[in-house]
Amino acid sequence: MEIKNPVIPVDVVNDVLEEHHNPDLGEATIREIVSIVNELEEQTGNKFIRMEMGVPGLPPSRIGIEAEIEALKKGVAAKYPMLDGIKELKENASRFVKAFVDIDISPQGCVPTVGSMQGAFANFMVCGHVDKKKDTFLFIDPGFPVQKQQLMVLGFNYESFDLYHFRGEKLREELERHLKNGNITAIIYSNPNNPTWVCLTDEELKIIGELANKYDVIVLEDLAYFAMDFRKDMSKPFEPPYQPSVGKYTDNYVLLISSSKVFSYAGQRIGVMCISDKLYDRYFPDLYDRYKIGEYGRVLVGRILYGLSSGVGHSSQYALSAMYKKAVEGEFNILDDVREYGERARVMKKMFFDNGFRLVYDNDLGEPVADGFYFTLDYPGMTGGELLKNLLYFGISAISLRITGSSMEGIRACVSQTGTERFTELEDRLKRFKKYADEYLAVKNA
Ligand SMILES: Cc1ncc(COP(=O)(O)O)c(C=O)c1O
Repeated sequence: MEIKNPVIPVDVVNDVLEEHHNPDLGEATIREIVSIVNELEEQTGNKFIRMEMGVPGLPPSRIGIEAEIEALKKGVAAKYPMLDGIKELKENASRFVKAFVDIDISPQGCVPTVGSMQGAFANFMVCGHVDKKKDTFLFIDPGFPVQKQQLMVLGFNYESFDLYHFRGEKLREELERHLKNGNITAIIYSNPNNPTWVCLTDEELKIIGELANKYDVIVLEDLAYFAMDFRKDMSKPFEPPYQPSVGKYTDNYVLLISSSKVFSYAGQRIGVMCISDKLYDRYFPDLYDRYKIGEYGRVLVGRILYGLSSGVGHSSQYALSAMYKKAVEGEFNILDDVREYGERARVMKKMFFDNGFRLVYDNDLGEPVADGFYFTLDYPGMTGGELLKNLLYFGISAISLRITGSSMEGIRACVSQTGTERFTELEDRLKRFKKYADEYLAVKNA
């Protein structure tokens, strides 16, 4: 059927999709969508409303840049950094976690990684070998698709369930259903959740912590969107409310703290992993068999990080250290800039709703989901893949929920690359899309 009033010429979209072997967009990775959209933009000169990738859309923190320039001028670029990070970053990370999560982790256990991406990868490599009987990871989904790809690269198995159906006390039963088989080595989830922006509560984190103790599994808590549940103000150091964490309820945990979003520092590829003191020192005989070192933290640093990248870019460590220090000392509010994302989400969601879309993950334990970096959408009657393809004709890109491990059809929209200056254009595109979509569905359902 004819697509009336498209933003991107229909044959151009179809040709590019064909060049990419007509992928089922419902299965396409984030980077595949990125490359399709790059090509469409290049061929047409028309800029998409890009909602597929979580690239920070704000300038990087000045504090970080200045500290990094200073460090470079002092010549750090010539020197290999220590594997477990420079002393001042370790100390400031430990203070940061105390100030904003209210848990105590010694500087020893605060170790920089090449983004949280490397943090997850490195921990997977250790967790996968702590116990020969446990070869499977458990995702509380939906989640960040690349982590499953990391497990695929490493050859580990995973299981998952969709949190949407197991909120509150129901979480215990579902977790136990997986854990009682004895094959799970670690649990992983992000909080706030990418892609739904649902946030686990303290009650739920307590359940996870208690079960981590009962079944002796490690919890990898991914705080990529640190303190970004904007319904609460978690930006005041040493004052509640704090970023909720499983670290309050178990000693079997590692926090993955990215600096990509909260400090808009994605390009420098630095984050920290904060390993609980008990886990850092815990000896695992099966680790010893494989790595000839048995303590979790020492394997992570002395075997895995050494082997992967021999540490993290020297100057970026000074940047992160300076940002943590200023935040802890109250001279820099970590949320002032990024609150902008919440505001964008509020306006953009309304535009989508006005044009026939619905929120897929539509409530957070009965409350409205917070406005933040991502939200989830469907257009009743279309699968996620169909919706993505149809949106391409109208110059809008996103990713499918299917690749996030979601049990629902729909898409994830990221607000970061759409500034207010493009809102009128988005609204116009959505109106045009709606007209087409309703005709498309009428034909489909006839
Ligand atoms: C949930 C989650 N974890 C980890 C990452 C990767 O973070 P980094 O840029 O620090 O590697 C992202 C990035 O989008 C994410 O959404």
